[in-house]
Amino acid sequence: MADAKKLFIKTYGCQMNVYDSERMAEAMGGQGYVVTDRAEDADMVLLNTCHIREKASEKLYSDLGRLRPLKRKNPDMKIGVAGCVAQAEGAEIIRRMPMVDLVVGPQSYHRLPDMVQGKGPAVDTDFPPEDKFDHLPQRKALRGPTAFLTVQEGCDKFCAFCVVPYTRGAEVSRAPQRLLTEARDLVERGVREITLLGQNVNAYHGDDWTLARLMRELARIDGLERIRYTTSHPNDMDDALIALHGEEPKVMPYLHLPVQSGSDRILKAMNRKHTADAYVRLIERIRAARPDILLSSDFIVAFPGETEADHRATVDLIREVGYGAAFTFKYSARPGTPAAEKPELPGEVGDARLQEVRDLIIDQQRATQEAMVGREVGVLYEKPGRWAGQMVGKSDHLHAVHVTDPAAKVGDLVRVRITESTANSLAGVRV
Ligand code: SAH
Ligand code: SF4
Ligand code: F3S
Repeated sequence: MADAKKLFIKTYGCQMNVYDSERMAEAMGGQGYVVTDRAEDADMVLLNTCHIREKASEKLYSDLGRLRPLKRKNPDMKIGVAGCVAQAEGAEIIRRMPMVDLVVGPQSYHRLPDMVQGKGPAVDTDFPPEDKFDHLPQRKALRGPTAFLTVQEGCDKFCAFCVVPYTRGAEVSRAPQRLLTEARDLVERGVREITLLGQNVNAYHGDDWTLARLMRELARIDGLERIRYTTSHPNDMDDALIALHGEEPKVMPYLHLPVQSGSDRILKAMNRKHTADAYVRLIERIRAARPDILLSSDFIVAFPGETEADHRATVDLIREVGYGAAFTFKYSARPGTPAAEKPELPGEVGDARLQEVRDLIIDQQRATQEAMVGREVGVLYEKPGRWAGQMVGKSDHLHAVHVTDPAAKVGDLVRVRITESTANSLAGVRV
């Protein structure tokens, strides 16, 4: 295609944005755009943004600054801003950066092709009545043997610090039959592992199905070997979902279950609606169903009003649970959220607490990895490694694993005995 137009997409933020970027690329494919990995020769640049912390949203403006010379050289280059900053700031983005041609929110990006042709408004941050998924072209398997599948969007939880309920809107679940069709289609295109996505994925309730029921049905698809899901909220972990971890071998032994803090006082101020103890008891039940499950979480340190004792409670909870991975964040006040009204802690306090929690998590992550040495795990090869004959894939527990396996190809799901643990990955031999 000599006359194909080139689309460069940069994705910030969570996996939901990764999924949305793929679908926007597919939608723009209908307009003759092909994806390029170089902004320099793009006809259109799309920044798919994240609003979750101040640093994340300021990245948009520094990247726009960097794009300015390109736009000056090629005034026909279109610049679009999508995602959660688009939703939160809307027309303000064009006011601040007139070089931006289009602003489109996460619920209206099916209209992007029209907007690019000048057939729609330059700013669209509606929560439209129609379902964007009904207006998007069929999926392509873009990333090899693994794929994301958004099953639920939005959040009704309103944690006091979080912008997601405002940028993504209310909780909406997609119809299960549509999802089964999309999943079958992905599998036909070579996908062997699907990660179900939702801001509160375990609150899924499409046509009154639970997430557990949806996963049971997905597990019946021949050729689909692995199912993951993220992100879950502790209050939505029902018995059926917990039991499924012990019953369905295609459900992988990894669970991201954010708790944010180990202090009941802070959990209350965060509007999390559960105690630290309730979370720990929940973890016990999950481990009873699947003893080798690898757990991960998100933590926010230095939430307004957090005392040293509150912080110690977080450290104690981390010690008690023992995580295989976790994301740790310093609290960032977000405009429009209730917590942003409260006085912040001094920056150094947050930095020190963040460092302590990070160090502890790194220790736990290393220990979890080292405990894999000698064990046999499933590995799905995702790409060739750096050395000849080497493959890289993910284990059942989501560890990156390097294996020398010259006859293998991407997409093979093999058994591997882990022989070594390095900083961020494992190495093993095929059995
Ligand atoms: N829906 C998911 C993920 C939300 S965003 C959930 O409920 O867990 C991912 C993580 O970003 C959150 O879990 C939280 O730890 C962090 N986060 C959200 N808002 C934040 C803020 N204002 N400051 C710092 N971290 C924040
Ligand atoms: Fe944000 Fe809380 Fe909803 Fe997660 S559950 S998206 S942290 S409001
Ligand atoms: Fe960021 Fe929006 Fe995801 S704020 S974390 S891109 S839902």
